[in-house]
Amino acid sequence: MELRKKFVEIFGEGGDIREYFAPGRVNLIGEHTDYNGGHVFPCALTIGTYACARLREDGVLRFYSENFPKQGVLETAIDDTVYHKELSWSNYPRGVIQAAAEMGYAIDRGMDILYYGTIPNSSGLSSSASIEILTGYVLRDLFGFDFDGVTNALIGQRAENRFIGVNCGIMDQFAISMGRKDSAIFLDTATLQYEYAPIELSGVRIVIMNTNKKRGLGDSKYNERRAECEQALAELKKVLPISSLGELDEIQFEANITAISSPICRKRARHAVYENQRTLQAVAALRSGDLAGFGELMNASHISLRDEYEVTGTELDTLVSAAWQQEGVIGARMTGAGFGGCAVSLVKEECVPAFIEGVGASYLAAIGYEATFYVVEIGDGPTRIS
Ligand code: GLA
Repeated sequence: MELRKKFVEIFGEGGDIREYFAPGRVNLIGEHTDYNGGHVFPCALTIGTYACARLREDGVLRFYSENFPKQGVLETAIDDTVYHKELSWSNYPRGVIQAAAEMGYAIDRGMDILYYGTIPNSSGLSSSASIEILTGYVLRDLFGFDFDGVTNALIGQRAENRFIGVNCGIMDQFAISMGRKDSAIFLDTATLQYEYAPIELSGVRIVIMNTNKKRGLGDSKYNERRAECEQALAELKKVLPISSLGELDEIQFEANITAISSPICRKRARHAVYENQRTLQAVAALRSGDLAGFGELMNASHISLRDEYEVTGTELDTLVSAAWQQEGVIGARMTGAGFGGCAVSLVKEECVPAFIEGVGASYLAAIGYEATFYVVEIGDGPTRIS
């Protein structure tokens, strides 16, 4: 895709046109822990979002997406700080501009920006966080702001929380903004302390399996799950000196579970606590070269997301159960928010073609439409290409 050519075709010649890229992400383990003060273990991908951008002399913002050509150029003024439904996907970059301004990085000139994404929409591989981080990176470069990658992640999260209205945690924006090739990020979401863990999967590939069931966080039960965890925490706080579920281990949790009145909230909190502990164990397993142990923890994560957190659904469960039955699979689980979207699996390289065929056939037979598979690489965070 010749983005620059397309940019000139849409917005015209002239000025200093710059090109950028920001990745998507996949989470290996630590699901629905990031808004519970727990740990996550995501990595950036080599698929992501590209942008071509240029400053304008006036105060107009013009956005175009090669993924939504029918919507044409979506135009707005920099001082229009309100969410407009008809501005569709461009509310993501608009939200970032607004969040950046609120954090002290206000812009005083308009821009033309063209986007092109290679992340399937609604796949749960964070196409929205990718646009957000990319936009923050474009702002930083075009306006010479000095914020770092962590701040860019916080800007993106703020845009999502306050402008888009999804109460997401920090994982997606952080994974994308701070991504590093061939490494996963072991992030403590309570403190934002993080470490890179090299992922040396000799002879093993990361295979992402897309249910092709469309979803968006806005219409999912995401905010509801978050509220259930908050209710459990509020009740636990009456008997324990804690500020998040991530501070508890399994034993402390079980010893105090009766403090939580609703059986549903008990299940949600149990997932958050156990998943955090599994993430710590999984990173330790990986560091000691125990890939099989890592895979078993991935499987346990899926079961907990299915039975305790109840965010999987037939499509994801079908994919993951089929994956577990294939030869050469080390572990498989849903990834991201759930309710559709993608699952992730670790598969021995020589078994990948048969794995895809086997899972694909089972899925088609059970669900009635096809799943899509991506054998992915772990990539870097955002960059300026030219
Ligand atoms: C979505 C959110 C993240 C995280 C995951 C679940 O991707 O954006 O903050 O909560 O769901 O782990």
